[in-house]
Amino acid sequence: MLAVSGFDPGKVRSQFPIFQQQEPLHYLDSAATSQKPQSVIDAVNHAYTKLNANVHRGVYRLSEAATKAFEDTRDKIAQFLGNVPREQVIFTSGTTASINLVARSWGESELKAGDEIVLTVSEHHSNLVPWHQLAAKIGIVIKYIPLKDNLRLDLEAAKELISSKTKLVACAHVSNVLGIIHPIKEVIALAKKVGAKTLIDGAQAVPHLSTSLSELDCDFYCFSSHKMLGPTGVGVLYGKKQVLDAMPPFLGGGDMIESVSLEGSTYAPLPYKFEAGTPAIAEVIGLGAAVDFLTSLDRQSALEHDRQLGQYAFESLVNNPHVTLHTQPGDDWIGTLTFTHKVIHPHDLAAFQDSQGVCIRAGHHCAQPLMSILKSPATTRMSPYIYNDRSDIDAFLAAIAKAEDVFVNH
Ligand SMILES: Cc1ncc(COP(=O)(O)O)c(C=O)c1O
Repeated sequence: MLAVSGFDPGKVRSQFPIFQQQEPLHYLDSAATSQKPQSVIDAVNHAYTKLNANVHRGVYRLSEAATKAFEDTRDKIAQFLGNVPREQVIFTSGTTASINLVARSWGESELKAGDEIVLTVSEHHSNLVPWHQLAAKIGIVIKYIPLKDNLRLDLEAAKELISSKTKLVACAHVSNVLGIIHPIKEVIALAKKVGAKTLIDGAQAVPHLSTSLSELDCDFYCFSSHKMLGPTGVGVLYGKKQVLDAMPPFLGGGDMIESVSLEGSTYAPLPYKFEAGTPAIAEVIGLGAAVDFLTSLDRQSALEHDRQLGQYAFESLVNNPHVTLHTQPGDDWIGTLTFTHKVIHPHDLAAFQDSQGVCIRAGHHCAQPLMSILKSPATTRMSPYIYNDRSDIDAFLAAIAKAEDVFVNH
């Protein structure tokens, strides 16, 4: 395996303090959450030690400084997403909250019984359950784009499913189980043809791909800070202005109003209409540092690095008679590798890997419908990222061989 030119994982890794502990840590579960660089930890620390005050309400300098640091992150995100207007960047608590906001605010005000929405069979539960809840509440009909045998999205089937009855197409940018980058440009084009809105779940994409939302032109795009080197508890909902302006607020309370009397309330303009209550101030400031870190990298080389690590693991496992690999690598892949061991249960394998200092994920990965398609209630997933190198994959492969000695060859 050749190193990717323009990318130095050793230099990247040295900026993540968690890897400086004495026990070796082979962290291969970045699809669940990423590790945090020192700069993000420092930014959160700085927010609490030097800037702590509530935002948008104090007239004293400390509050103004906190507000500025908080709002600076909005500017960074707006630029990071392809120079979109800052008012279209809404802070939420994560992808789950962003999708729920759209389902509850846009869905409940725009959809009626019998309207159709189209999802895919490989969605994370975050992009399934809010729509199931809406279907139970108002009677919308949900259709699902299937996968082809190579586990890529079946665009021919999508063409049939997306019709004049379709009001929304909601699809992950990258599958959290398969690591496959869905052809979202084509999906968005199909939705536009029939005048349907589009929501893209970018939770697994933003950490790996640089995406311009001004070019993509979807109506909504959602992601979580904690998967892209930032703190937990904060995420983003991007939306088109016209669509967001027409939506009622989801939560009511402080900071989202223009005026309140005993007779009623009027609401603040975007983005504040959707940001009720005290936000996760330090975490948003930390997210700004995460954006700085990501934008300091050559992102295409970083993606190739992640993909090469996945490819190396794939090639080492493809001839193992006990292993069924659920991913077929390609240029539309971020390196996440999901597989089933025919003898060792995913939880046993993950626990054994842990005994060797390797962190991987076992279970249904919050994608139970996809598990049914893979004909396995649970699988094992390893998801490499920028701070991993070949030694992490070697440790993972060695742990599989050792586990086989215990569980298979004894
Ligand atoms: C594709 C995808 N969507 C949504 C989510 C939910 O993200 P969060 O738990 O940060 O809200 C995840 C998390 O794993 C994910 O991978």
